[in-house]
Amino acid sequence: MELRGATALVTGAAHRVGRAIALGLAGAGSNVVLHFHSSADAAGATAQEIRALGVEAATIGGDLGDDPAAVFAACGELGPVRILVNNAALFPDDRLADVSRAAWEQTLAVNLTAPVFLTQAFARALPEGVDGAVVNVTDWRTQRPYPSHFSYTVAKGGLDTFTRAAAEALAPRIRVNAVALGAILPPPGKDSAYLKELAQEIPMRRVGGTDPVVAAVLSLLANDFVTGEILRVDGGAHLR
Ligand SMILES: NC(=O)c1ccc[n+]([C@@H]2O[C@H](COP(=O)([O-])OP(=O)(O)OC[C@H]3O[C@@H](n4cnc5c(N)ncnc54)[C@H](OP(=O)(O)O)[C@@H]3O)[C@@H](O)[C@H]2O)c1
Repeated sequence: MELRGATALVTGAAHRVGRAIALGLAGAGSNVVLHFHSSADAAGATAQEIRALGVEAATIGGDLGDDPAAVFAACGELGPVRILVNNAALFPDDRLADVSRAAWEQTLAVNLTAPVFLTQAFARALPEGVDGAVVNVTDWRTQRPYPSHFSYTVAKGGLDTFTRAAAEALAPRIRVNAVALGAILPPPGKDSAYLKELAQEIPMRRVGGTDPVVAAVLSLLANDFVTGEILRVDGGAHLR
């Protein structure tokens, strides 16, 4: 797929990984719609940075736990969306023993139901004769579940299966792939001691930072013969 001139929607794009993906797409020549939930100012600042790269940017707000199709409907301004990156997620600390029904449903809504119905809205809106691509942002720990992030891990496992099911359902016009991330950025508020400890568990002996994620997303988008793929970007953490 030619990224130059295509319009992309990135969810949760105000900060951190989503912001880096949005800037990476802009660097490749795509126009970008930045979705945010609570971070309107940061999304606006990222949009300014993107415009400075010579492409167009717009911001749209919305709670993906509510009505993902309504969020997608707000993207109109920059022309048909040809790229969807489902990045926004919740990462609550919960266990099977104590998770409440409400908390479970909230995590599933943002991390799994929203990507499903954003993808449905995206596929319905894609003009005839135009091809598109979706990248879901998942987590290699679906293969070795975190005990302490139960609802998150189960939702991301569903996102892995959704990636393959949607790739089959939407071929040949829309390709659907995923990146399964390892330790990319520390959770907000964690210090360098936390990073050092984390690095010991990773064959590559460091956390990734966002550049390898951006490279993986751009490569999955650009390669027209890859669909249903889940590409681990985890410094080899899954090998241990
Ligand atoms: N960071 C890592 O090392 C790592 C590791 C493995 C997997 N991942 C995955 O990579 C992706 C990005 O990670 P991250 O650490 O950058 O994520 P993050 O900072 O925890 O969250 C990303 C965005 O999700 C949005 N969001 C939260 N609740 C929402 C809701 N109800 N409706 C709409 N948007 C909502 C937030 O938007 P607002 O700020 O606008 O509220 C937030 O900026 C996630 O899918 C995560 O699971 C990350």
